[in-house]
Amino acid sequence: MSQELAPPIDTVRAYRSLTQEEATARAWAARHALGDDLVILAHHYQSDEVMDFADFRGDSLELSKVAAAQTEARYILFCGVDFMAESAAILCGPTQTVILPAGDAPCPMAGMTNLAGIEHAWDSLEGMWGAGSLTPLVYQNSSAVVKAFCGRNGGAVCTSSNAEAAITWGLREGKRVLFAPDRYLATNSALALGYDMDQIGLWDRQEDALATGADPNRLVLVAWDGYCSVHRRFTVEDVERIRQEYPGIRVIVHPECTPEVVQASDAAGSTAYIVRAVTEAPPDTRFAIGTELHLVLRLAKENPDKTVVPLRRSSCVAMSRTDVYNLAYSLEHLAAGNPVNVVTVPPDVARDAQTALQRMLEIG
Ligand code: 13P
Ligand code: SF4
Repeated sequence: MSQELAPPIDTVRAYRSLTQEEATARAWAARHALGDDLVILAHHYQSDEVMDFADFRGDSLELSKVAAAQTEARYILFCGVDFMAESAAILCGPTQTVILPAGDAPCPMAGMTNLAGIEHAWDSLEGMWGAGSLTPLVYQNSSAVVKAFCGRNGGAVCTSSNAEAAITWGLREGKRVLFAPDRYLATNSALALGYDMDQIGLWDRQEDALATGADPNRLVLVAWDGYCSVHRRFTVEDVERIRQEYPGIRVIVHPECTPEVVQASDAAGSTAYIVRAVTEAPPDTRFAIGTELHLVLRLAKENPDKTVVPLRRSSCVAMSRTDVYNLAYSLEHLAAGNPVNVVTVPPDVARDAQTALQRMLEIG
């Protein structure tokens, strides 16, 4: 596309023999050459080196909305994990191409559920409560195939930004909800809506059955037993320790943390909520943040008039897969008219997953 650009190198591995400065400079040259043909989206957990390239930063709901709103750009480069890029590919136009520079960045929680498991849970629960008694809700952190199941069965995708609204929507007309895969987001959201623990069941994915102890007649929601290990690491002891160390500190955590941690904290919300809470607070406010480390360190750097510390240092390996080397690789190939690391979703899966994603956008 541009005469001045060096020809792309064949493999990401070869880019790794460049210095970080060289890779960054090459990535920028290619990005500039692509101009308005390209828009770059980055999730809040990306490193600063990657975030510098972002045209839009956001949480997973915001980035889905941005992807759906792109009408001009031919290419959308998504700095995040697989499920986010897949959702962007489903929501953008048919002539647009989505690139995941990391090539492959699977979220382990998304891997804790699959189509066969969800179908089995669904059949068992409908067998118990009757056909049409259940709304499936899947967290954005899931594969396109699981989202498609949801779309086919009257359900919606949700994110940590709108999980409470999605549960309220799913419970309409006396229905119950099957929520997968994050048990903690499901539980924290149901508790926030005023339900109590014995109204929240757990689907044991090893046993392929409702966990024993739950009275099925009391349940309004069944949570799949997946979780995020990055967020499960935070403990109530962490909250107590940080409050002792920094008297008066405000503790904000992501709702993928356990209910015990959420209840010991001052507030919980999506990454966008956390960014807003810190950015809009008066100077000298102190925050301990329970979420992925890259975001916490960036908030500390961008809010020098406040104290922002991690509740504990916890990093996401999948999010760290995107770096300036695979950015340079992807951008140079794109600028040379030879896209690599293109995200594709089979059309039948995309159609049903889009139904569930559109409902997510409508729920807000
Ligand atoms: P957000 O939607 O809050 O950005 O969360 C995405 C995620 O993967 C958190 O672990
Ligand atoms: Fe998945 Fe947790 Fe990483 Fe989010 S932080 S992408 S849920 S592993």
